[in-house]
Amino acid sequence: MTKIVILTGAGISAESGIETFRAEDGLWAQHRVEDVATPEGFARDPETVVNFYNDRRAQAAGVEPNAAHRALAQLEAQHGGEVVVITQNVDDLHERGGTQKLYHMHGYLNGALCATCDYRWAAPMKMAAGDACPECATPAARPDIVWFGEMPYDMDTLFQHLGEADIFAAIGTSGNVYPAAGFVAEARRGGAHTIEFNLEPSAVGNQFEEHRTGPASQTVTEWVAELLKR
Ligand code: NAD
Ligand code: APR
Repeated sequence: MTKIVILTGAGISAESGIETFRAEDGLWAQHRVEDVATPEGFARDPETVVNFYNDRRAQAAGVEPNAAHRALAQLEAQHGGEVVVITQNVDDLHERGGTQKLYHMHGYLNGALCATCDYRWAAPMKMAAGDACPECATPAARPDIVWFGEMPYDMDTLFQHLGEADIFAAIGTSGNVYPAAGFVAEARRGGAHTIEFNLEPSAVGNQFEEHRTGPASQTVTEWVAELLKR
């Protein structure tokens, strides 16, 4: 049976109302990456970083999955073969849209992590710098987010899935950040057919065999309907 591996980025959540990173009015236009998405930024000013993610957690709690999230869940439920979603997003819209087999390579907005003992727990809506770890009691709580310069989660498993993919789709990602931007090359090495879903070609758009241009809520829904009709 056909194995489908799907990488998603901020663009799949855009129509739910969560701004992307690199649009003109995007997240990185309002904040310096170095201040809120790097370990150095957290060490320098933990309160600013914790509040940046408190704001994003409140925003994500107030929006809903869109038709693209729901279409991927329908594909997983009704497609005969394996469907694996790898997201760079830290929001929980894939889970709330019904996707089961999901990897958050950049971490979890609703997760907290202890910088001392690596213990993980469900983040409160509002974290504060210096919150105590429930396990080791040190004041070392941080958002469970993979920042620039840190190793994404589950990389070995992700590369195994990419090598086994018959179809690799990238949805709503600009192809600016590695290792995710290198996934299409890895999937092609394994013989996958590659499709990019975006409003415009990404930085690695020329590596995809097929492009479906337009809002993901439309292009992904159409694609899933075609696949399930086969
Ligand atoms: P990188 O290419 O992602 O970034 C290199 C450096 O350039 C970073 O240290 C960052 O300070 C800066 N940078 C990168 N993209 C930028 C941008 N769009 N605007 C301004 N500055 C930018 O390589 P890296 O530092 O090795 O990051 C590796 C991993 O970090 C990524 O693969 C990803 O998994 C993770 N990451 C997570 C987040 C997040 O907010 N969750 C953000 C970015 C990266
Ligand atoms: N439908 C499809 N694609 C869309 C839509 C939409 N409705 N809206 C925006 N896009 C596309 C944009 O054209 C862009 O290519 O989504 C992409 C969003 O790109 P970025 O803002 O760079 O987000 P992303 O690719 O997820 O960033 C990767 O970088 O900053 C880090 O860790 C952060 O996970 C993020 C990573």
